[in-house]
Amino acid sequence: MQALRGTQDILPNDIYKWSYMENIIRDLCALYGYGEIRTPIFEETKLFLRGIGDTTDVVTKEMYTFEDRGGRSITLRPENTASAVRAFLEHKLYGDQGVHKLFYIGAMFRYDRPQAGRYREFHQFGVEILGASSPLADVEVIVLAYRLFQKLGLQNLELRINSIGDKNCRNAYKKELISYYESQKDMLCEDCKQRLYKNPLRLLDCKEDNCKILAKNAPVITNYLCEECHNKFEKVKSGLTALHISYVVDPGLVRGLDYYTNTAFEIQYPPLGAQSAICGGGRYDKLVEEMGGPDVPGIGFAVGLERLLLALEGQNLIPNCPQKSSVYIVALGEKAEIEGLKIQGELREKGVMTYMDLQEKSLKGQMKQAGKVQSIYAVIIGENEIEQGKATVKHMQTGEQSEISFSQVADYISQENSINK
Ligand code: HAM
Repeated sequence: MQALRGTQDILPNDIYKWSYMENIIRDLCALYGYGEIRTPIFEETKLFLRGIGDTTDVVTKEMYTFEDRGGRSITLRPENTASAVRAFLEHKLYGDQGVHKLFYIGAMFRYDRPQAGRYREFHQFGVEILGASSPLADVEVIVLAYRLFQKLGLQNLELRINSIGDKNCRNAYKKELISYYESQKDMLCEDCKQRLYKNPLRLLDCKEDNCKILAKNAPVITNYLCEECHNKFEKVKSGLTALHISYVVDPGLVRGLDYYTNTAFEIQYPPLGAQSAICGGGRYDKLVEEMGGPDVPGIGFAVGLERLLLALEGQNLIPNCPQKSSVYIVALGEKAEIEGLKIQGELREKGVMTYMDLQEKSLKGQMKQAGKVQSIYAVIIGENEIEQGKATVKHMQTGEQSEISFSQVADYISQENSINK
């Protein structure tokens, strides 16, 4: 049996890399005042149809949807914004009319074509601010993502931003876009021909060669923004400039999910090639309302943690796994095992990592194992030791040995400087 294509195991020797990223993320979120939210891995399918948009690639091609035994249509979450908004509504968090700053870390599922940096089960760290209409909120989330990458030591990031306006200015723009593409419809790929009337903005993002050429000369949305949307975008840009965060305005950046309004952004790490987007997000001022709630604006982003890890590993930016020093109890015979168990308990109580043989190995085998796990001390309890009520405590590197009575072993070892607890 093998893990399914596009999924992977994270084994104990690698998990510290994930803990390393997640600890930095959690510290940063605490500093910025975000509270963690955990939503279910699966939801009713209609949440995503309504939330993400039923013409998007994610919904039409990539969702893991199935019927459960009760005949309900269920989907493994392909992203977490729709679920966060569902939870926000379900628990009436909007009741206090305040600003809610949420973050999450968790697995998402998309039936994508697997390759380096693109998986079917992947993990995202994301944030959502609900209830904040000020462009300062846009600046805050972008800065948060940026600082995270800086803190991790990543350089040469490219922040691309755009505004896709509100419904009014976007509709005017869509009309222009449709008439531009209509005149050259034959050059479009089959997918784009289909999307032209349903979701014309997506054509700007198509990866097919001909579509890319057409997109280059297409009208740009930033020329169609109404005054209000234009001013908001200017404020976001000046906030970033004030914080010395460099960005590129990319009018072709439209993002793949339907809920966005105004600010859209991506942070790319170019060495990752085709999968260089390590973070994507934007504002979604109408999503809460579209999902049946009050008029509450939202903005957020999500970082792909597998991609972030690839970027960090590529630059050697993950520190080595911190080695905790340990003690190995080498016990031979039933009575020795009982004394060993007691000493192990006392050492653990004092915060000292302690191993004991669980495979009924010989004395030699246990000593070998103590060396293999690089224990600082071996606490040896054999027949002689049982007779004398004292264990032999051997420093594994110097070979120095002391006889210590059973009740004193834990104190003796835990007071040693070489043991880090
Ligand atoms: P997204 O752009 O679909 O946005 O995904 C965000 C990030 O998740 C991507 O930039 C990428 O790093 C990672 N990602 C996406 N698909 C895969 C995959 N198949 N394999 C590995 N990594 C992947 C969202 O999901 C929005 N919910 C972000 C957001 C939050 N917007 C507002 N709030």
